[in-house]
Amino acid sequence: MSDDLKLTATTKEGKYIELIPQIKSLVDGEKDSIANMANICAALKFGMNFFWVGFYLIKENQLVLGPFQGPVACTRINIGKGVCGTSWQKKETIIVDDVDTFPGHIACSSLSKSEIVLPLFDSQNNIVGVFDVDSDVLKSFDKTDELYLSEIINLLKF
Ligand code: SME
Repeated sequence: MSDDLKLTATTKEGKYIELIPQIKSLVDGEKDSIANMANICAALKFGMNFFWVGFYLIKENQLVLGPFQGPVACTRINIGKGVCGTSWQKKETIIVDDVDTFPGHIACSSLSKSEIVLPLFDSQNNIVGVFDVDSDVLKSFDKTDELYLSEIINLLKF
């Protein structure tokens, strides 16, 4: 396998369309979900130039920081707290155009301006964590991100 991602697209959708088969080939054939989460973070951080990309996994009734790429982040989040804790509580994807307007947003970095958080489910449809992508630009995320990021996290087996 080549150690470099191949990316030529200039649009967001084009980049996802180029990245997804490359992420799939990284993840296929590897059963360790930590290894796969780590490579997904690296591929998205460098492929999409996101500010922060990472997983939080539910452990002893808290979200605990898992594999990520970007600046250091808070390690534990309670249910209902911030965007991640709300996505966990509602079991829904949440898109926030401006984090300063989200009640209780947890500012791990003051540079983070907008974000998308998707819930992660195991094969029995139990929630096991969330996937958080942050941008240093307002209004970075929309249904296109939701679609392609869901496709990417669905490659993981919990
Ligand atoms: N923004 C998140 C906290 C996690 S970090 O941004 C990495 C939130 O409010 O849930």
